Amino acid sequence: MEIQDRYGRSFKTLRVSLINSCNLGCIYCVHSSEQKSTHTNPKQPLDYKEIVYAIKNIHALTNLKTIRLTGGEPTLYKDLISIVKEIKSLGVDNIKMTSNGYLLKNLLPELSKAGLTKINISLDTVDQENFNEISGKKNLERILEAIDEALKYGIEIKINAVILKGINDDQIIPLLNFSKSRNITIRFLELMRMGPLHETEDFYKYFVSEQKILNCIESEYSLTVIEREASATANYWVTQDGYKFGIIANESSPFCNDCDRLRLDSFGNIYGCLSNDSAISISDVLNDEIKLTEKLEEALSHKQELKFTGSAISMMAIGG
Ligand code: 5AD
Repeated sequence: MEIQDRYGRSFKTLRVSLINSCNLGCIYCVHSSEQKSTHTNPKQPLDYKEIVYAIKNIHALTNLKTIRLTGGEPTLYKDLISIVKEIKSLGVDNIKMTSNGYLLKNLLPELSKAGLTKINISLDTVDQENFNEISGKKNLERILEAIDEALKYGIEIKINAVILKGINDDQIIPLLNFSKSRNITIRFLELMRMGPLHETEDFYKYFVSEQKILNCIESEYSLTVIEREASATANYWVTQDGYKFGIIANESSPFCNDCDRLRLDSFGNIYGCLSNDSAISISDVLNDEIKLTEKLEEALSHKQELKFTGSAISMMAIGG
């Protein structure tokens, strides 16, 4: 019997955070100079074998359609290629990754060979100085090159751009045009009240709504809305010349009602909802089908009915 809640929701997408560190320090993720660690974990991270075992046993109970590798930054995880191969051997249809792209280029040949089919690349700006302001890093071109290289390998790329008021809201059109010129789908993200932004005034200082993003795009393009697909995170529009882009609007149009996502962090905790930061540890029950099922049911019961409220858990630990 499939694990289901009273709204008919089940887990079909597993997001696996392989590592809870990142090589960029983007302002929405690492907000102050002393990064508040709201989620100290006394335990050791899972080792490679334990991660594979956890994925395998969760898959056995849920029949996953998609596994997405996240971080922190998954390209910092040393056994990334092997994990992709292991997942491929489980017969999961879609193996995807979310990455900042900074270390991606050299990994592409092996990732593609191992069976990775889709990568979401986080790109909040196409301006070098602005990139430095947001992430604290130089060499934006590393990411831009990785994007073009990935296309050569036939890996499907989507771009994720978090829009922040007064920081990169002037980048909406340049980012759209960059993606359009390569025929890559871009999704603009409303800022989410996660980690360092949870219950702070800063969230409101930076937040740009879906409508504001749309207004900006409509100043250049005329748009037609596309009907939302089940369990999709984004709303999509198409421009008059046929280019499709999306907006992931956790605040303005939450998509909890058919959410099928489960998250596993690098310490062996599962989370059924980004708005609930209670860690459910599964590392001690991986061998026990009944107990693991109970933990999955508990995680499913954490899903919100309707609305995204955010949580203190950092994207650095949970990977979005
Ligand atoms: N709000 C919205 N998006 C965020 N991301 C990280 N933190 C936030 C936040 N507070 C994005 C990253 C990446 C994806 C996993 O989530 O930029 O694209």
